[in-house]
Amino acid sequence: MKKTTGVCLLACVVSFVASAAGATQKPVEPIAPATGTNEAKAELGKKLFFDPRLSKSGFISCNSCHNLSRGGTDNLKTSIGHNWQQGPINSPTVLNSSMSFVQFWDGRAKDLKDQAGGPIANPGEMAFTHDLAEEVLQSIPGYVTEFKSVFGKEKINIDQVTDAIAEFEKTLVTPNSRFDQWLEGDKEALTADEQAGYKLFENSGCISCHYGMGMGGGSFYKMGMVEEYKADSPSEGRKDVTGKEEHHFMFKVPTLRNVELTYPYFHDGAAQTLTEAVDTMARHQLGKKFSRAENGQLVAFLKTLTGDQPRSRSPPCRLQATRPRNPNRLSKAVQGL
Ligand code: HEC
Ligand code: HEC
Repeated sequence: MKKTTGVCLLACVVSFVASAAGATQKPVEPIAPATGTNEAKAELGKKLFFDPRLSKSGFISCNSCHNLSRGGTDNLKTSIGHNWQQGPINSPTVLNSSMSFVQFWDGRAKDLKDQAGGPIANPGEMAFTHDLAEEVLQSIPGYVTEFKSVFGKEKINIDQVTDAIAEFEKTLVTPNSRFDQWLEGDKEALTADEQAGYKLFENSGCISCHYGMGMGGGSFYKMGMVEEYKADSPSEGRKDVTGKEEHHFMFKVPTLRNVELTYPYFHDGAAQTLTEAVDTMARHQLGKKFSRAENGQLVAFLKTLTGDQPRSRSPPCRLQATRPRNPNRLSKAVQGL
């Protein structure tokens, strides 16, 4: 089956069934380290990623829900945002998200920059506004200097904020997993069980959806291709974006990189363990039931996909002062928070 870059329609489903039967396979590739990074911009983006002052409460940063020491997720069934509101959907990892063809489970953001403005202004997440975020950043001298040196402008705007965050996120790749070492020729890197797990992954059709460098992130597929899946979340997947019935319950195939760390699984966070997630995938996507031994081999294989994690030391304390020192420089709206 050829690489799907959009929503997979009926013809694609038919060809998928052929490929699931082992007719064709998509390749997986080792992760290449990030290249071409604008270091200064990424460094600024890192500070913003960790900065709770971009939220209304002053408590929530991107890292709250995409914790870089927890595989880029919050390990919650669904995320908790402003005022302890429980969100409707599981937080996907930000690790390797630069490899995805679109962002969000339903693909409503076209790239990382487009995505990054969303959570700041989402009332259920950081609950701020873009205007207030600009104003707060403009009131912090360290940021003014740094934005100026990166973007060459006196005035900070949200476009620069999302640009910098996206540049940082592009550095969050995780090369050098044991599986990648094995793909690159180190035959000792995987045990016999793990290799058997990869064979099952190829031969039973997992790879037709979880392919490419990210082993996911390349297409939308219906959750419940063979057996209907009843979700705990109200999301209708891609249909929420296009309004089309045929897109009902289609989700972006998630990356399987670092999947050992990114529990719980699925858009509704319903599966607690990899054993459960593999069992669900087999039944709902492939109409299969793996034996305990096979499931164990697949899980063992999935655990070899954990790569080098980004070093996530908090940014230096120069920008870590709490609220801006001179509140008189802020508008009433900001002071009233
Ligand atoms: C309150 C928790 C929360 C906060 C704070 C938050 N996110 Fe998210 N993030 C989520 C959830 C939940 C999703 C999935 C939403 C969806 O798909 O509908 C998501 C999705 C994403 C995605 C898409 C990943 C993918 O594979 O599709 C990226 C990238 C991302 N967030 C980055 C950020 C950045 C950058 C910030 C800070 C500006 C941020 N997030 C703040 C919870 C959060
Ligand atoms: C027809 C396409 C398709 C096939 C085949 C498929 N998957 Fe998936 N996979 C998906 C989609 C779509 C999701 C997201 C579903 C959701 O969240 O509701 C997913 C989610 C997952 C997750 C959860 C990841 C996370 O972070 O939440 C794991 C683990 C997984 N698949 C493993 C497998 C394994 C192992 C196989 C083979 C036994 C397999 N998949 C076969 C499309 C597929």
